[in-house]
Amino acid sequence: MTERNFIPEKLSSIQEKGQCTWKSPSNIALVKYWGKSDPQLPKNPSISFTLDACHTITTLSFKQKEVKDDVFSFDIFFEGKKKEDFKPKITSFFERIEIYMPFLKAYYFEIHSENSFPHSSGIASSASGLSAIALCLMSMEKLMNPSMESSYFNQKASFLARLGSGSAARSIEGELVVWGTHAEVAGSSNLYGVTLEQAVHPVFKKYQDTILLVDKGEKVVSSTVGHQLMHKHPFAAQRFEQASQNLSAMLAVLKEGDLDRFIEIVESEALTLHAMMMTSMPYFILMKPNTMEIIQKIWDFRASSKLHVCFTLDAGANVHVLYPEKEKEAVLEFIENELVDFCQKKHYICDSAGNGAVCLKKEALSSTKLEK
Ligand code: PMV
Repeated sequence: MTERNFIPEKLSSIQEKGQCTWKSPSNIALVKYWGKSDPQLPKNPSISFTLDACHTITTLSFKQKEVKDDVFSFDIFFEGKKKEDFKPKITSFFERIEIYMPFLKAYYFEIHSENSFPHSSGIASSASGLSAIALCLMSMEKLMNPSMESSYFNQKASFLARLGSGSAARSIEGELVVWGTHAEVAGSSNLYGVTLEQAVHPVFKKYQDTILLVDKGEKVVSSTVGHQLMHKHPFAAQRFEQASQNLSAMLAVLKEGDLDRFIEIVESEALTLHAMMMTSMPYFILMKPNTMEIIQKIWDFRASSKLHVCFTLDAGANVHVLYPEKEKEAVLEFIENELVDFCQKKHYICDSAGNGAVCLKKEALSSTKLEK
């Protein structure tokens, strides 16, 4: 597959009006993506658990323009409120994907989005948000090209989502998704995410992720800037190589169910991601004192309980606590007793690995068949 495969051929009908709704999840990377080249191509492969509870629901209504023009026309609403400040990001997303969705300028869109998690929680909403819009646009394209196969649908949805936000490429399907070319993952690509097809040990089924909301504020350095700082980073080459090796090791772990090795890779990946930030120029720190307190408590608890609880971090201060489903009761008790005091307003979110995005509605309100 190359980019060219995602440029649509002749559409079989024109949809004048319609509406699609998708529920699309967030994801948490086990091997991290940090560093990219244009256009949103990862410098190393990554793997993530697709989440279940943390999601965005997006409805896209579209209507053909009566008078043709050369601009993207849309309004975006977040949790019922019109969001002018979201428009530049969507406009640049549309610009990036226009070649693959050549009909965009012929329509007026109304986009309504809501998140299952608080907007200001510090949980990245770009993965779920951009994947939800990409899926809605794919449903629209499929209305005009009904013979489209579902494998192509998902691949192109991931491809488009990636152009909006890199990690969004991993938010289409579940439970484990690889994004970035890797010799041991058949079909893997820098262009889109692929579901991990190999046998996965049952201990990883519905793997738990309790997200501790340590800091809900705006990040001091955005992911976009952080990725850019990898260009002249002194350790970049070693890091990209290490991520590839960690993915190889993770594939074996996922097959065999070796939780001790899983913990080692996941925690090392989280700390390496933040080490890259701390050794960028300019350098920055996204962890907060409470992030460190939580990490130390997890290490102490793991040593004393012998349970398989570990942490990972995204580009922020929040801590994702990962553990097998069968250890849920004991770990949740530990979180309640020892970790909630380090969370803002004692807030945390219970999530687990999930199966990917779901279409809630797809409706053509009027259409015209095109001549062959
Ligand atoms: O998708 P972006 O550009 O916001 O990058 C985020 C990357 C990390 O979340 C830090 C790691 C990852 O692989 O998800």
